[in-house]
Amino acid sequence: MKIIVADNYIHLSEIAAGMIAKEVIENPNAVLGLATGTSPLGTYKKLIDFYENGLVSFSKVHTVNLDEYVGLNGEHRQSYRYFMNTNLFDYIDIDKNNTFVPCGIGDSLEENCRNYDNILQRFPRDIQLLGIGGNGHIGFNEPGTPFGSKTHIVDLTERTRKDNARLFAEGEKVPEEAITMGIKEICKAKKIILIASGQGKADAIYKTVCGEVSETCPASILQLHNDVTLILDKEAASKLDESVITEN
Ligand code: F6R
Repeated sequence: MKIIVADNYIHLSEIAAGMIAKEVIENPNAVLGLATGTSPLGTYKKLIDFYENGLVSFSKVHTVNLDEYVGLNGEHRQSYRYFMNTNLFDYIDIDKNNTFVPCGIGDSLEENCRNYDNILQRFPRDIQLLGIGGNGHIGFNEPGTPFGSKTHIVDLTERTRKDNARLFAEGEKVPEEAITMGIKEICKAKKIILIASGQGKADAIYKTVCGEVSETCPASILQLHNDVTLILDKEAASKLDESVITEN
């Protein structure tokens, strides 16, 4: 596991975007696994900058996202499809037909899960971008999720719903369920980049790096992957011993 401690969030975002852009420049047909939430916002901004400056094109890229809330359609402002369109896809030359986000609506969520698994088989990820929950979740794989899980429906924990409430308008209900790529599929990506900033992530990062590999901290599985880079700010890295840090 490579661990980079960035000066701040902007620096962290530049490093992550640089790694993703490099991948796409070297392989214009790359498949990118993408995340939503606050953590990747700076990375997406930087990727848009790179695109606007003619450094990278996404015209042949495919993307697959980690997760989506159950019950929200793609036009809903809190849906992850809407997030991806308005924070990245609308501003780069990607063909939206080549972008996939799990579907959290419809008659059979179970069928949606199996359909998404088929998409994941068709589009193995060259690189997977991850954030991490304060409880160590990746995607919406909450603590206790079996490492072998495929795409599935999850009950979001109170902690995750509380953490995410900041992104919802006052009085707006945070969904109780989500559909998420499973841990097994996340780990199939050739390269994984996990970004984390802020003190609220310090415990989860410590367990990810130094804890035992255990389903109680889903991100700890990353210890077993052979190409993982953690890009952290100083606060997120604050519980790590200097000796485990690869680059400052
Ligand atoms: C989002 C996702 C989640 C988030 C995590 C951190 O697609 O998969 O695992 O990465 O909840 O969220 P933020 O970045 O908002 O702190």
